[in-house]
Amino acid sequence: MPIEVEALQELAEAYSNRQPQEILQLALEKYSPDLGISFSGAEDVILVDMAVKAGGRFRVFSLDTGRLHAETYQYLERVREHYGISVEVFFPQPEAVERLVREKGLYSFYRDGHKECCGIRKVEPLRRALQQLDAWVAGQRRDQSPSTRSHIPVFEVDTAFSTPEHEIVKFNPLANWSSKQVWDYIRSNNVPYNPLHGRGFISIGCEPCTRPVLPGQHEREGRWWWEDQTQKECGLHAGNLRPA
Ligand code: ADX
Ligand code: SF4
Repeated sequence: MPIEVEALQELAEAYSNRQPQEILQLALEKYSPDLGISFSGAEDVILVDMAVKAGGRFRVFSLDTGRLHAETYQYLERVREHYGISVEVFFPQPEAVERLVREKGLYSFYRDGHKECCGIRKVEPLRRALQQLDAWVAGQRRDQSPSTRSHIPVFEVDTAFSTPEHEIVKFNPLANWSSKQVWDYIRSNNVPYNPLHGRGFISIGCEPCTRPVLPGQHEREGRWWWEDQTQKECGLHAGNLRPA
């Protein structure tokens, strides 16, 4: 039975300091099988590992922007085989990509900002993916971005993607975990990881919009580095940009 909207905030507060596995367990209890883990091909793989270990039915989906690194495509395949799961891939609408590229070229984001391209290649496909679900699970964490993610709750109604007819709940089971905790988990559970992490990439997104960071740099500095820190959300997590 889904969580009643009125009870959601109170329950989220009660879960605010729980471990990711407990939050994921609640998500599975309440929303299985209409629960989707959005997997970006980065260290958010631990959510897949935890959900497989928890058992129960859930879906895993990835948004293939067409601009991911070759290593990420190979890694998505490796995860599929390793866990014996199907990874549902959502592609952007071809007409929209064709129009953008015809009018503005393949690298318009460096000039015009990433919003337009992300809107076509990520946000619209996510909207489609979420139409089939009642809840989704994302791997975002508070420590990933002091500017936009420092207050994310462990779950909430996703106001950016809910409609009056279809409310969707978003779980962030890793909200409280640090990068170190995630990597301790990966190592101690022998979780396969994207080889780009071994080459200085901490945060991984699309190839033209992601670069390795130097020692001491924050992971978010490797994403959309030509843009202002406070705007570094692509629309998947649009709620993070709400004024405080
Ligand atoms: S982004 O909005 O800046 O691109 P980020 O890379 O930090 O997001 O990833 C945070 C979470 O968003 C991931 O753990 C995942 O749940 C979701 N996400 C981001 N990109 C994708 C993608 N291409 N496919 C599926 N989920 C994604
Ligand atoms: Fe386009 Fe870059 Fe956004 Fe990927 S991250 S969808 S290439 S702007």
